[in-house]
Amino acid sequence: MSHNHSHEDHEVYYLPHHNLELAKLKCEGFILDIGGGGEGVIGKLNGPQVIAIDPSKEELAETQNNALKIVMDASELFFLDNSFELSTALFTFMYIPPEKHLKVLTEIYRVLRPGGRFFIWDVNQEEPLQADEKIIAMPLEIALPDGMINTGYGFLNKKRTKQLEELIQLATSIGFEVMTQQKMEQLFYLALVKAK
Ligand SMILES: C[S@@+](CC[C@H](N)C(=O)[O-])C[C@H]1O[C@@H](n2cnc3c(N)ncnc32)[C@H](O)[C@@H]1O
Repeated sequence: MSHNHSHEDHEVYYLPHHNLELAKLKCEGFILDIGGGGEGVIGKLNGPQVIAIDPSKEELAETQNNALKIVMDASELFFLDNSFELSTALFTFMYIPPEKHLKVLTEIYRVLRPGGRFFIWDVNQEEPLQADEKIIAMPLEIALPDGMINTGYGFLNKKRTKQLEELIQLATSIGFEVMTQQKMEQLFYLALVKAK
């Protein structure tokens, strides 16, 4: 099901409703969550183990979880090299302009330890939508071990397609290896690892 609806000065094009189930992430040290404002899903999963960064102070201020929240842009991370064992980006790449993706991936690679992992969940558009000037919104139900989150993530469509393939190409060009890639209708999950 998809339909149009007006939102501020852009029309909204709704993708079908999707479901995602997440378990608590297994990691010994801190988890760096990129774009960790909004619902703050990773912070809800792993609590104070999570360092959530987002350039939007407003987004972080609205987020209710026990993560440590820091205003920071993923294309310029103020962490030393080899600091984290795990980083996450849940519906964040769709908010970052594609021309910044390589810089962001390079920064995450730098702050991960050898053997460190980077998990990405995002929207995957296989075909261009006839909706260039519309906001594409995905209604989403996320099942966590202790409850459900009903939300929706939207972005301005600029003919973005094949985000999964593009991210894999960029990530592997800087040394990441693909652990897992999984398409779930119009969502994808990608697990990358920094080689030891
Ligand atoms: C849909 S929200 C992410 C949802 C969030 N992960 C959650 O759990 O609900 C996308 C976020 O990406 C953030 N963002 C945009 N550009 C960014 C960048 N360069 N670095 C880090 N985060 C960025 C936005 O400010 C926004 O809060």
